[in-house]
Amino acid sequence: MPGRSLHAAAVLLLVILKQQPSSPAPLNGSKWTYFGPDGEKNWSKNYPSCGGLLQSPIDLHGDILQYNASLGPLAFQGYNASANQPFILTNNGHSVKLKLPKDMQIQGLGARYNASQLHLHWGDRNDPHGSEHTIGGKHFAAELHIVYYNSDLYPNASIASDKPEGLAVLAVLIEMGSSNPSYDKIFSHLPDVKYKGQEVHIPGFSIEELLPERPEQYYRYKGSLTTPPCHPSVLWTVFRNPVQVSRAQLVKLEEGLYCTNVDDPSPIEMVNNFRQVQKFDERLVYVSFQQGIALSVALAGVLGICIVLAVSVWLFRRKKSSKKSDNKGVIYKPATTQESEAHA
Ligand SMILES: *[C@@H]1O[C@H](CO)[C@@H](O)[C@H](O)[C@H]1NC(C)=O
Ligand SMILES: *[C@@H]1O[C@H](CO)[C@@H](O)[C@H](O)[C@H]1NC(C)=O
Ligand SMILES: *[C@@H]1O[C@H](CO)[C@@H](O)[C@H](O)[C@H]1NC(C)=O
Ligand SMILES: *[C@@H]1O[C@H](CO)[C@@H](O)[C@H](O)[C@H]1NC(C)=O
Ligand SMILES: *[C@@H]1O[C@H](CO)[C@@H](O)[C@H](O)[C@H]1NC(C)=O
Ligand SMILES: *[C@@H]1O[C@H](CO)[C@@H](O)[C@H](O)[C@H]1NC(C)=O
Repeated sequence: MPGRSLHAAAVLLLVILKQQPSSPAPLNGSKWTYFGPDGEKNWSKNYPSCGGLLQSPIDLHGDILQYNASLGPLAFQGYNASANQPFILTNNGHSVKLKLPKDMQIQGLGARYNASQLHLHWGDRNDPHGSEHTIGGKHFAAELHIVYYNSDLYPNASIASDKPEGLAVLAVLIEMGSSNPSYDKIFSHLPDVKYKGQEVHIPGFSIEELLPERPEQYYRYKGSLTTPPCHPSVLWTVFRNPVQVSRAQLVKLEEGLYCTNVDDPSPIEMVNNFRQVQKFDERLVYVSFQQGIALSVALAGVLGICIVLAVSVWLFRRKKSSKKSDNKGVIYKPATTQESEAHA
């Protein structure tokens, strides 16, 4: 009998030991939102990195940008997925996410980075300004993030996500304009993932079609995930040029989706799922392109010269007019006499 209960105790202990690592206590902050008590101001309570260093997104503006000639074009490999190689589109309660094949890679970031997933951030119909990164304080309508992990160092994205040099994200700014058939390869399937937890297989297509024109022009900086747990492990590439989608396409994002399960009695619309820009103290953003910056430097130069000219003209006039008024104050009769004498 004692032998048997000892055995039972040992088995129980084994079961407990075995179960502990595979079912860790649920993370407290697993419930996070963009609004309300679990909104971004409170993310750092359960996810300390959100209140930490190197946070994203940021505002990209003149005095933090530095041209860097070593930022060459990126190469996109394995992007030409065929239609019979389906992707899985999911509503994860925070965004819509497309799982990407691991054989999709970027080259040109030093290490090799394989693809993990892509997802979007957007605003709402009345205020369609939901990009995460801003340029000179300006929001775009939406933003696409294509997430990669460092496959030289790590086996998958979840392992890589909190490690140094773990992730790389390509960010595409989206503005309202003409209709974009490539984005419709995702958007046309949104009605199938209206509610949290739903997923659908969609025909494969070339993700490269989602990139803007001249992808060799980009901003580059070290930052973080823009959602909890906000790990500061992301090498960001924000393309300079936006892509356009139509108003009707944007509305598919802004009106069709919910953060809640299909049977939730109080459905929450999936809108404004973007994080506010973060402080960017003592960091620099490298830029791969020179024209824009050269142009703004030139414009600033021209403006500077104009101001100097305007001020000089004004000073000169003031001097002249003050001389005139001086003249008025002074009795100047002799000079006039002299003048008339000279003329004579
Ligand atoms: C979750 O919160 C409870 C109460 O605030 C706390 O006792 C517990 O340790 C927390 N768990 C984790 C994993 O942070
Ligand atoms: C953060 O959480 C506290 C306590 O849960 C809540 O009182 C407060 O309103 C929240 N802050 C925001 C900005 O929602
Ligand atoms: C240019 O960027 C690289 C990283 O891509 C960095 O190591 C280097 O210091 C930068 N050069 C300058 C002049 O800032
Ligand atoms: C993708 O392109 C490569 C090289 O251009 C080609 O070898 C491969 O068969 C293509 N794959 C698909 C799925 O089209
Ligand atoms: C990354 O992609 C390459 C090329 O398709 C593949 O050979 C490699 O196995 C992938 N790495 C991982 C960790 O999946
Ligand atoms: C990532 O890799 C680790 C270690 O190989 C493995 O335990 C884990 O299940 C993998 N996660 C995913 C999502 O594939």
